[in-house]
Amino acid sequence: MKNTRFLLVHRLMMMVFCFLCAASLHISANSAILPIPEVPSVPAPLVNLGEALFHDTRLSADNTISCASCHDLSHNGADRRPFSVGIGGAVGKIRSPSVYNSAFDLAQFWDGRAIDLQSQVDGPIHDEVEMGSDWESIITKLNNDPEITQRFNTVFRNGINADNIREALAAFQKTLILTDSPFDRWLAGDHSALTLQQLRGYELFRSYGCISCHQGANVGGNMFSRMGSLENYFELKGDAISQADLGRYNVTGNPNHRYVFKVPSLRTAALNDFFFHDSSANSLEEAIVTMARFQLGRQLPEQHVADIAAFIHSLTGTHPRLSTQLNSSTEQH
Ligand code: HEC
Ligand code: HEC
Repeated sequence: MKNTRFLLVHRLMMMVFCFLCAASLHISANSAILPIPEVPSVPAPLVNLGEALFHDTRLSADNTISCASCHDLSHNGADRRPFSVGIGGAVGKIRSPSVYNSAFDLAQFWDGRAIDLQSQVDGPIHDEVEMGSDWESIITKLNNDPEITQRFNTVFRNGINADNIREALAAFQKTLILTDSPFDRWLAGDHSALTLQQLRGYELFRSYGCISCHQGANVGGNMFSRMGSLENYFELKGDAISQADLGRYNVTGNPNHRYVFKVPSLRTAALNDFFFHDSSANSLEEAIVTMARFQLGRQLPEQHVADIAAFIHSLTGTHPRLSTQLNSSTEQH
C-alpha cells in the first residue's frame, strides 16, 4: 500500500517535471534512447485471464466490440483505420494508439488523463462511441458464465468485480512488450545490428533534435509537448479543430496546455497505417516531414527523411502475437 502511494506520488512528480522539460524544449545533454527494460514477470493465470478479457466482446454494451477490435495485436497493437469504430458503428475522433509497450509510458491516452493501465480501462468501457457499457452490466454478464467465473475465482479471492477486471487487463498489457529490436541489439553491443542507413538516421534523429522529445525506453511516452512547437499546426486545420485537438487542456483546463499531447512512442511507429492523434499523415515519411517542420522549424532533404525512417524501423521489436510477416518486412530496411 505504502509502495503504491509512493509510486503514485513519484509518477505525479515525473509528470510535472517532464511537462516543464518539454515546455522549455531544451535539448538536454541527457537525452538518450534507453534499452527496453526486462519484461516484468506476471503470474500466467492472471495474464491469461487478462488476455481473454481483452478479446471479450461482453465488455461492450451490445456484445460486438472488444478491446482487440481497436487494438489489433497481430498488426501493431493499434487500429488500422484512421479512427476506430465502436458500438453501433460510431466513429471516434482520435486515433487509437498502440497498446504494445504502453506500460512504460508516464500516463495513458494522448492527453495523459489516466495515470496507469488500471485506470485507463474505465475510458473505453464507458465511452459511448467505444464500448458504451457500465460495470454493473458487465459483471452481471460475466457472472452468468460459469467458465469465466471459475477463472476469476482461481486468480482472485473476491471473484468478478471492476477492480479485478482492471487488474487482469493491466497485467496482460504489461506483457505486451516488444523486445529484441535491431536498435536494442545495437545498444547491447552488436555492431552489425543496424545498417549504415539506420546509423545515419540515428545520428540525424539526434542532431536535428527529435531525441529531445522522443527519448527513453519507448523513444517517447516520457513527456508532454505541444503539437506545433514552432509553427501553428492547428491554424491550418481552421474550423476542423475538435475537442480532442485541445489535448492536455481537456485534463488540466490550463490554456498553456492547449494542443499539448503525450509525445508518442516510436517503438511501433514503423508499423502504423496512420500517424498523429488526428491521423493527418498516412506514411512514416510524411510524419517525419511534418515533425521537422512544426516541431523543429526545419525542412529536411529527402535523403535525411529516408534515413530517419530507416532508423525508426530499427526500433521495432518482436512479440509472439505480432505477425511474423510484418516483423520480417521491417527488417529489410
Ligand atoms: C472503439 C475503439 C476502442 C476500444 C473498444 C478500446 N480502445 Fe483503447 N483506445 C482507443 C482510442 C481511440 C484511444 C486513444 C484515446 C485518447 O487518447 O483519447 C485508446 C487508448 C488506449 C490506451 C492508451 C495507450 C497510450 O499509448 O496512451 C490503452 C492502454 C488502451 N486504449 C487499452 C484498451 C483496453 C484495455 C480496452 C478494452 C477494455 C480498449 N482499449 C478498448 C480505441 C479503443
Ligand atoms: C517538441 C517535441 C517534439 C520533437 C522535437 C519531435 N517530436 Fe515527434 N511528436 C511529438 C508529439 C507531441 C507528437 C504527437 C503529435 C500529435 O499526435 O498531434 C509526435 C509525433 C510523432 C510521430 C507520429 C507517431 C504516431 O504514432 O502517430 C512521429 C513518427 C514522430 N513524432 C517523429 C519525429 C521525428 C522524426 C522528429 C525529428 C525530425 C520529431 N518527431 C521531433 C513531439 C516531438
